Amino acid sequence: MKLQLVTGDITTMRVHAVVNAANSTLLGGGGVDGAIHAAAGPQLLAACRIIRDTVLPEGLAPGRAISTTAGALSAKWVIHTVGPVYSITEDRSETLASAYRESLRVAQHVGARTLAFPAISAGVYGWPMADAARIAVETVRAMTAEVGADIDEVTFVAFDERAARAFRTALDN
Ligand code: APR
Repeated sequence: MKLQLVTGDITTMRVHAVVNAANSTLLGGGGVDGAIHAAAGPQLLAACRIIRDTVLPEGLAPGRAISTTAGALSAKWVIHTVGPVYSITEDRSETLASAYRESLRVAQHVGARTLAFPAISAGVYGWPMADAARIAVETVRAMTAEVGADIDEVTFVAFDERAARAFRTALDN
């Protein structure tokens, strides 16, 4: 399972699955969530509404992940996950790691062999970028034994240079 870094807009990535840093409502928002819904079109929101009306009436809990179709995106799936909101009083690292782990398990389950991650929780949810990148890379690397036979490539998509430096450092460690 190859790990790589690109800088750019995750909605342009040509991968089987794009991971969305959603919120628990699954009904869209700003940041990468807003960008993915804007690029995917209304079918994505419709698919999310069906999930809310059926399997997840309470919404998606932090650290969990679920797949939908990808609407107009070139990807086949969007894997929605909810990262934890950063807290200085509570260590929520395990929930952030779980968001990456569960997204990989969903990708393996649906048969997505390539996927792209944004820097989950490192935007609106306030997680310090360097630590968010470290947790992302360490968690994905640790999943190689479990999902590596089914997932060929994981791309971390940095939206700006600050994020790219953080992920480059994490990948070089
Ligand atoms: N492509 C790749 N990365 C992006 C894009 C994009 N088009 N747009 C934003 N990002 C980056 C941000 O710069 C940040 O580094 O994604 C990272 C995650 O930031 P957020 O999107 O704010 O996600 P998060 O911090 O997990 O907060 C989730 O924000 O948008 C709302 O609905 C969302 O309530 C949820 C919350």
